[in-house]
Amino acid sequence: MSKPSLIITRRLTDAVLERAARDYDVKLNADDHVFSREELLEHCQSVDAVLPCHSERFDADVLAQLPDRLKIIANHSVGTDHVDLKAAKTRGIVVTNTPDVLSDATAEIAMLCMLGAARRGAEGNRMVREGKWNFWSPAFMVGRQVTGKRFAVLGMGRVGQVAAERARGFGMEIHYHNRRRLPAELEKGAIFHDSVESLLAVADVLSLHCPTTPESIDLINAERLALLPDGAILVNTARGALVDERALVEALKSGKLFAAGLDVFKDEPGGNPEIAALDNVFLLPHIGSATFETRDAMGYRALDNLDAFFAGREPTDRVT
Ligand code: DGY
Repeated sequence: MSKPSLIITRRLTDAVLERAARDYDVKLNADDHVFSREELLEHCQSVDAVLPCHSERFDADVLAQLPDRLKIIANHSVGTDHVDLKAAKTRGIVVTNTPDVLSDATAEIAMLCMLGAARRGAEGNRMVREGKWNFWSPAFMVGRQVTGKRFAVLGMGRVGQVAAERARGFGMEIHYHNRRRLPAELEKGAIFHDSVESLLAVADVLSLHCPTTPESIDLINAERLALLPDGAILVNTARGALVDERALVEALKSGKLFAAGLDVFKDEPGGNPEIAALDNVFLLPHIGSATFETRDAMGYRALDNLDAFFAGREPTDRVT
């Protein structure tokens, strides 16, 4: 029997590519560049399935031009904001993601962002690397200690719960807001807030873990930043779209925020030059899930979903 044909849009790990080549007639992106819209459409014309990353946009227009034979978009990402899910559903295209397997890696990056922001990690690192460290005093490079502070999770899904667990390890008090309150065994003593506003009022560190939907774009805007305690820290390892970056720059400049630790930006790759020009930010290039272990696991999970689909079963991680 012939294998289903599959386009894999980006360079995945060797182990994942080997398994994919064993089970599918695979087309690869040889030099790992981001496909233009035209290239994406062209490559999708002759395949039964696509395994993309969040770097490929499947908007309504692209989805409308996919061939009838292409029946599944098996994402190598937990986020699905790069796919117009409604339009995919209308076209009868199944969309899957890769939840769970990246929660640990992403929660680790949230901790790195929190500590990097609180303890002025970028400033200190730059100073030593550039040979500009020529002074020391007890008043030098003083930052914020997170021990005993309130860690506020906005979006207590899988990643949010692991981030809360890690923050507990730093002796932080956990607060959260979620659409639904978690059962006690998942809450583990975390304090539930029934509104975003109530959470913000206690957020010494605000860590974003909610999905991007039309309703959550610019959720953290000037009005909401004003509700944070003075000197709060913002951590974003979810999506840049959640934050109004102009308002963030103002809050960082005015000292309303002590610092921000960001792994994601509205414009990627690249980031925001106004944010990058500030001292009180710790910035990373969207590497929340970028560990060897997690990249393998994400690839396998995407392949598991494809395998289930082509075996006539329901993919575990079907989102539409
Ligand atoms: C995700 O899985 O959504 C990460 O942001 C990497 O794409």
